[in-house]
Amino acid sequence: MPEKIAIIGAGLIGRAWAITFARGGRNVALYDSDPRRVEETLRTAADLIRDLESRAMLAGQTTAQVIGRITAAETIESALEGAQHAQENVPEDLEAKRIIFAELDKVAAPDTVLASSSSAILPSRFTESLASRHRCLVAHPINPPYLVPAVELVPASWTEPAILERTRALMSAIGQAPIVMRRELDGFIMNRLQGALLHEAFRLVAQGYATTEDIDAGICKGIGLRWAFMGPFETIDLNAPGGVRDYVARYEGLYRHIAKSQTEPTPWSGPLSERVEAELSRKTPRARLAERQQWRDRRLMALLRHLAQDEKEIGE
Ligand SMILES: NC(=O)c1ccc[n+]([C@@H]2O[C@H](COP(=O)([O-])OP(=O)(O)OC[C@H]3O[C@@H](n4cnc5c(N)ncnc54)[C@H](O)[C@@H]3O)[C@@H](O)[C@H]2O)c1
Repeated sequence: MPEKIAIIGAGLIGRAWAITFARGGRNVALYDSDPRRVEETLRTAADLIRDLESRAMLAGQTTAQVIGRITAAETIESALEGAQHAQENVPEDLEAKRIIFAELDKVAAPDTVLASSSSAILPSRFTESLASRHRCLVAHPINPPYLVPAVELVPASWTEPAILERTRALMSAIGQAPIVMRRELDGFIMNRLQGALLHEAFRLVAQGYATTEDIDAGICKGIGLRWAFMGPFETIDLNAPGGVRDYVARYEGLYRHIAKSQTEPTPWSGPLSERVEAELSRKTPRARLAERQQWRDRRLMALLRHLAQDEKEIGE
């Protein structure tokens, strides 16, 4: 019998998780406090799954097989019944998370893992007072998880290591790439890394050193090219003849010097964001943002197919 996953909150991320878990062979029960969302999600998920099949992204399965694993649950109790894992996706609001986790904690069987998709709320903030807080954690996806495999697993100090390990194993088994934090921290990992880069990008534009176009090119035609298959640590390990230790000996001084001018965040809002928007609008007029998002998703799917093929031919 395949594992059962309860999806709690069937909006944008709930829908994306339902597709991801169903493609990974799990049975999925979808619950939302607004039943119209469940109907709408089932309908739109079918279109998205068909789209994935047409791009050979269902791991050899048919649309019917994957859709057939997703069912609507009328109550939270029926969604959770027999579920090994519950993935919560209600709006990003501390009070809403506290309320839904109190309910999940009461209703779910003792061995059901309770995971939140929260983008930024630390798990300790909404699980502290729960009777079985040891089985709660954040599993933060990047949207949409059926295309972007990384998922950050963030424990509170009371999350049991075995729960973290079970969630890691489940995510790996469905084809995701779990990133396990040892302990919670604001911004988790990916937003901290992205934030550091964005702060510097805004600073360079604010101080008139470069245009948004040149900075974007510096990433996608330059240092970002490698990032689709290797991270910053492996990059520097291969960028000095003697590996990372040699890189540190050669370049730490340079980066330390640069870091002294990177301590104060530049405000993004106001005239700076207007300037950034004006520059970006030359390439993508605001009325065409949705079209450009579709272009991004098509390129992302093509890149993922290419990377999967590359891994087979060249190695990971
Ligand atoms: N949108 C993103 O790009 C993204 C990425 C990663 C993580 N997240 C996180 O995922 C979570 C959900 O975000 P979203 O973008 O899917 O929001 P959304 O507004 O699209 O969906 C939220 C859904 O939760 C339902 N809901 C509200 N209260 C509920 C309750 N008590 N019980 C059951 N359902 C309830 C709503 O009816 C709605 O359908 C947030 O914590 C968000 O931070 C979002």
